[in-house]
Amino acid sequence: MFRRLVSGELIILQWRRSQSSKCLRLLSCNSVIGPDRGQDLSREERTVPTERVRLVHTHIGPADNTFVGYLFLVLTRTKFTKQKRVCKVILDRFDQQYGQELGPLWPSARAVLLNPGCWQYGVMLNRFAAVSEVKQRLQGQGFVSLLPHTDLPLNSSLCFIHPSPVRYPSPPHRQGQLKPYYLMNAASLLPVLALGVEEGDRVLDLCSAPGGKALAILQTADPALLCCNEMDPHRRDWLAKTLESFIPQSLSSTVTVSNQDGRIFGQSEAGMYDKVREENGHVFWLFSGPGGEQHGAVRLRERARLPTLQTQLLRSALAAVRPGGVAVYSTCTLSRSENQEVVEAVLNTCPGVELQDLEEELALPLQEHFTFTPLGHTPSLGHTPSLGLLVVPQQGQTWGPMFLSRIKRIY
Ligand SMILES: C[S@@+](CC[C@H](N)C(=O)[O-])C[C@H]1O[C@@H](n2cnc3c(N)ncnc32)[C@H](O)[C@@H]1O
Repeated sequence: MFRRLVSGELIILQWRRSQSSKCLRLLSCNSVIGPDRGQDLSREERTVPTERVRLVHTHIGPADNTFVGYLFLVLTRTKFTKQKRVCKVILDRFDQQYGQELGPLWPSARAVLLNPGCWQYGVMLNRFAAVSEVKQRLQGQGFVSLLPHTDLPLNSSLCFIHPSPVRYPSPPHRQGQLKPYYLMNAASLLPVLALGVEEGDRVLDLCSAPGGKALAILQTADPALLCCNEMDPHRRDWLAKTLESFIPQSLSSTVTVSNQDGRIFGQSEAGMYDKVREENGHVFWLFSGPGGEQHGAVRLRERARLPTLQTQLLRSALAAVRPGGVAVYSTCTLSRSENQEVVEAVLNTCPGVELQDLEEELALPLQEHFTFTPLGHTPSLGHTPSLGLLVVPQQGQTWGPMFLSRIKRIY
């Protein structure tokens, strides 16, 4: 029944059934084998869905039954998750839409999106925590820096990626210590790089939860202010927890959390920010959750409302920018109506703004890591730059989907 443990597996001792019979509440852990040898279980790992837990050995404790010890082997998520079911109604819609919009790139992007086993993960190091050990471990496992040879004004240790779908474990929670790294889709760094925050900037992250890009902004520069806004109260709490886990207390007056409707935020703080980031695209999950196909149909109806919301949010973001400042609009969707068409609508109706080119600044230096799709130019609008960059996931470069566009306020 026993076998040799491999890197990434955990040995867990002692457990008790929690309220929900679907979960096992882990009480203690005697050791962790693999990259995080000897560390406590992170908070996220303490409640483990039963399908991830396999009994290897049972030891019945003393006769009074006050203690029952079990030895479990918990396999890493990718190895032991149930087969996911694809939501057919969403997949059919994607086939129809993206077959047209992306042409020959769609079948290969589709294959990646449908196969979580091939997804790559980025590891962003936290400059506010001690990271030298993690960095060494990453390099030892074949992770490489995403930005070693570019002219981008950033430290080269910001984010590590692996050419294969190696999933680094979630960062451990240690009482009183900041988390050393954040797991992310490496394409999420692109809007942050496009924003180009500089020391002393006043920055607004208009739709900020769960906070990955706000953290990334703080890894790249020391702004005078980073206001992280999130309208949904639960997600706002999640955002606050993320910031608390990664950012030192000493930054609490620099990094603030607010809870306004992003559609009116810009007008209420007009011209107050140097850099504003707006992101509201939703990844339309191809896999069925509870509710299956029916839920998929509801999501598709909600999706139809997104371009209007996104246009309102982008206008608001631009209102918050001072003359000379920039807004970066990003989404994690491939959909033209939520990407190029939103940018086009805003450029057509907002006076005093100008689209900026990201091709030379980002697409060229990073093309070895990301598959950027040409989006074409819009001479009818008099814009020579393309409306933005679109990162399409491909085998071996599974980053994305991610769209980004940068607009400068002239007056
Ligand atoms: C795609 S997520 C943002 C991800 C985030 N930027 C990150 O990198 O972690 C979009 C967020 O926008 C929020 N949102 C939706 N409508 C909003 C609005 N009107 N005002 C502010 N936030 C809004 C959603 O609740 C959601 O948390």
